[in-house]
Amino acid sequence: MEHVDRKKQAVGEKAAEYIQDGMLVGLGSGTTMYYMLQALGDRVKKGLHIRGVPSSVKTEKWANEFGIPLTDFSEVDQLDIAIDGADEIDPAFNLIKGGGGSLLREKIVDMAADRFIVVADDRKQVDRLGAFPLPIEVVQFGWQLTKKNIEALGCSTVLREEDGQVFITNNDNYILDCQFEAIHEPKKLHEQLKQLLGVVETGLFFDIVDDVLIGRDDGVEVLK
Ligand code: 5RP
Repeated sequence: MEHVDRKKQAVGEKAAEYIQDGMLVGLGSGTTMYYMLQALGDRVKKGLHIRGVPSSVKTEKWANEFGIPLTDFSEVDQLDIAIDGADEIDPAFNLIKGGGGSLLREKIVDMAADRFIVVADDRKQVDRLGAFPLPIEVVQFGWQLTKKNIEALGCSTVLREEDGQVFITNNDNYILDCQFEAIHEPKKLHEQLKQLLGVVETGLFFDIVDDVLIGRDDGVEVLK
């Protein structure tokens, strides 16, 4: 196993310990979450009773593979806890998410939870957000116009592709990866972007994180 995967596994396993019997759990997306789901599946096999709400089709598939019972927002309207990965985390616990393209569903799931725990390896910790291009989910119609309007806010953008094809989100939208020089005021930028027609959601998450679990060479650090 790669060095970085060991760190992801360690935080994933630690995060699974936060989940208690009877909880409704928001299940984030990404490779770090894979390890959390694996560890949670092991606990379910040993008798833990929980139900999870997945934040992407891939997470739903993994959860099914690991035997984690699932539900959705037609049955529940609040979650006890959500656990999710991140692409960047600043000292104030502002996040960039959406590297895997699941930012909209992730935000819906993470914001529905009483407690939100972020899992990441130590490469994700930054002093200031913005080195990782900010993913923005946009509707397909008129995306070229939306792209120009986003760029007027001071960034360059790339329409995300995967395997030579335009990447389509689980909600049938596109992703524009937006490179700002640095993001000084995440909340203000998010609000400016949300006012643009065609923007569905941004990968900026703020004011919702409780704990951050960071995987390091010498173990897992819990930031509160
Ligand atoms: C997907 C996400 C992921 O949580 C984020 O990209 C982190 O993924 P990984 O654990 O694979 O590094 O926001 O949209």
